Amino acid sequence: SRSINLAVIPGDGIGPEVVSQGLKVLSAVLPQDVKLETREYDLGARRWHRTGETLPDAELEDLKGHDAILLGAIGDPSVPSGVLERGLLLKLRFAFDHYVNLRPSKLLPHTATPLAGRPDIDFVVVREGTEGPYTGNGGSLRTGTPAEVATEVSVNTAYGVERVVRDAYERAQARPRRKLTLVHKNNVLVHAGHMWKKIFDKVGEEYPEVTTDYLHVDAATIFFVTDPARFDVIVTDNLFGDILTDLAAAVTGGIGLAASGNINPAGAFPSMFEPVHGSAPDIAGQGKADPTATVLSVALLLRHLGHEAEAARIEEAVAADLAERAGAPARSTDEIGDALAVRVAN
Ligand code: IPM
Ligand code: MN
Repeated sequence: SRSINLAVIPGDGIGPEVVSQGLKVLSAVLPQDVKLETREYDLGARRWHRTGETLPDAELEDLKGHDAILLGAIGDPSVPSGVLERGLLLKLRFAFDHYVNLRPSKLLPHTATPLAGRPDIDFVVVREGTEGPYTGNGGSLRTGTPAEVATEVSVNTAYGVERVVRDAYERAQARPRRKLTLVHKNNVLVHAGHMWKKIFDKVGEEYPEVTTDYLHVDAATIFFVTDPARFDVIVTDNLFGDILTDLAAAVTGGIGLAASGNINPAGAFPSMFEPVHGSAPDIAGQGKADPTATVLSVALLLRHLGHEAEAARIEEAVAADLAERAGAPARSTDEIGDALAVRVAN
């Protein structure tokens, strides 16, 4: 469309620094006739300290009216672990039904990685985003006693699994290699694991051109390191996908380059784009953070909104920028953002 109404949640730590570079590149890449409107939301650690709020209903409602959300990072050591993660980030993913957590991994040339020189590494993880062990089901008994018990219950619905599996088949079908791997642990998690496999096989009947494969998650971690080129599209549950995509980032150029989209495919709610990395409080405010993951998340955002040419321009700019990094002095967050903005504008 000819206008983008974007909600921005800079968040905590390095979030605001990388988000401002993402916005800089976004403004630079958009043609004159696409009107960009942004509205910033003060959510995260500072807000929580000030008001005790994580994500009030009024703001959730307000966010709903945007075409997409750009998020920096959430989490700060001054806030008890889980408060912002559950109360803000996961609340957004659940409320906006972001059931496709899309995390592409492509080994760009000139990146520092143990797997350098493997241009054949190009896969995308479709991580389920609204179920599994993330739903918060479970509880504690006899807390603080020697007989304490804690449970976390993984919730898997046929509805939730089928829709994410179908999305993954669609993506595999649209890619040249047409290969889809299900990752789970159905030798131990027999209830959820067998349901995933059953649905995976059944939906697969509708996609005869897609080659399928199944791996237990532990075995998958080996292949992520020893033979990542075997993967094309991977579909997996929320927690396995969380762990696998950090590993994928580490082996394909580092967490500073990994982008993600929390997608509501039908568009009933705005999708949300964010770097895979966290708030990195140890380097916040020092201009050391690499904004590339956020810039690549902006590319995913543009692609989602139908601006394919602009998304591709950003990805090309990042590849060219990485090629120039080798041997050059380290640049600040701002300098990398400036360089990318200049490239996409040309
Ligand atoms: C991620 C993060 C989140 C997750 C945390 C911060 C809740 O690790 O986006 O991968 O576990 O999904
Ligand atoms: Mn994670």
